[in-house]
Amino acid sequence: MTHRREFLKYLAASPLLTNYSAFAQEVEETLGERLTDPSDVINVFEMEAVARTNIPPAHMGYLNTGVDSDDTLRANRDGFSRFQIKPRRLVDVSRTDTNVSFLGADASSPIFLCPVGSQGAYHAEAELGSARAAAAKGHHMVLSTQSSTAVEAVAEAKGQPIWHQLYPTTRWEYTVAMLQRAEAAGCTSVCLTIDLPGGRNTETQSVMTREDDRTCSNCHTGRSKPIFDGLDMRGVGLNNPNLTWDVIGRMKEVTNMNVIIKGIEVDTDAALAVQYGADAVWVSNHGGRATETGKGSIECLPEIAAAVNGRVPIIIDGGFRRGTDIYKALALGADAVGIGRPYCWGLGAFGQAGVERVLDLLQRELLITMRGSGTPTLDSIGPEYIHDAGTRVPRGTLGRELL
Ligand SMILES: Cc1cc2nc3c(=O)[nH]c(=O)nc-3n(C[C@H](O)[C@H](O)[C@H](O)COP(=O)(O)O)c2cc1C
Repeated sequence: MTHRREFLKYLAASPLLTNYSAFAQEVEETLGERLTDPSDVINVFEMEAVARTNIPPAHMGYLNTGVDSDDTLRANRDGFSRFQIKPRRLVDVSRTDTNVSFLGADASSPIFLCPVGSQGAYHAEAELGSARAAAAKGHHMVLSTQSSTAVEAVAEAKGQPIWHQLYPTTRWEYTVAMLQRAEAAGCTSVCLTIDLPGGRNTETQSVMTREDDRTCSNCHTGRSKPIFDGLDMRGVGLNNPNLTWDVIGRMKEVTNMNVIIKGIEVDTDAALAVQYGADAVWVSNHGGRATETGKGSIECLPEIAAAVNGRVPIIIDGGFRRGTDIYKALALGADAVGIGRPYCWGLGAFGQAGVERVLDLLQRELLITMRGSGTPTLDSIGPEYIHDAGTRVPRGTLGRELL
């Protein structure tokens, strides 16, 4: 063991190391022991390693899995290397500003927390820990339909309007009930997830579950999620394979919340979403957990930004682990950038304090990239700061029209 640790220490110092995530997985046993304070963690990959020491294998499998061979999961990371930043020099970057106003909420950063289900599986603080961290650091948050915690409690913990993510279920009256409950809890937008109409094949999760010798029934009591309280879920599916674009109009008839469409991957669908009345388009492949397309989320962004052409805001998620990743998305036309797994690693590692650390790390990296590229404000960031990225399309109306 001592020799292995010495070797890993040597590896950690090696300039030859290029895939930090793989490294972090390798050294997880030593990192978990050494990094006992969130402030010791220097990037989100290390946070993943610490989380692995705390979260049981089956739950870590649920958190980290992609689908099939995890090709899209990997593509979400690899895609960033297709875009290189083009920095400009001798620009006054002494004052940076990342404040955004979006969809009924003000945030100090375009980085927000994606809807991730079942956060009670990572830490006892669950969604309340995430909400408190987001509130403490001034970031926005979207709550999952699959939340372990009731929307009212999360909204209160956040202290500012949150958005609600919607799996519409196979019964329309349940959709209406969930929309009404989310709106009554103060949510200002609902994000309809449209990328899971026909199930999925999460093999990494299955493999990791085999490593877990605990009894699953200790966690899974058969209770459905709090948003379904009072609804008889027997025989009801979460995702409705019958949905078509007119669902946007039907939702708008029963809610005053903004309707955002989550799970857009091609320009034609982005245009359809706008045509049918979506208030924002959310570029996402569900973190590589929906259709195994093999294409990274960031690679889908340029054609979607061109199709939307500033008519509505564009949100993106999928594989964002560095400030440079976030910068590239902002430059290619995104108005806000979501993170999923990284903050759940923080939650699993240290509870609320871990989520705060993840937000601090990414925000710091984003600010460094903004200063280093000669772009002190979000508005100043555009495709001219990415090599061969084409011309600038208008930005979305994030926050102005929708407030
Ligand atoms: C464990 C897990 C659970 C998720 N649950 C939901 C969900 O309930 N609803 C949803 O729309 N997206 C869900 N997502 C997808 C995220 O909202 C987001 O699209 C994705 O995590 C972003 O990629 P990243 O994890 O690489 O940052 C989930 C993702 C993960 C990892």
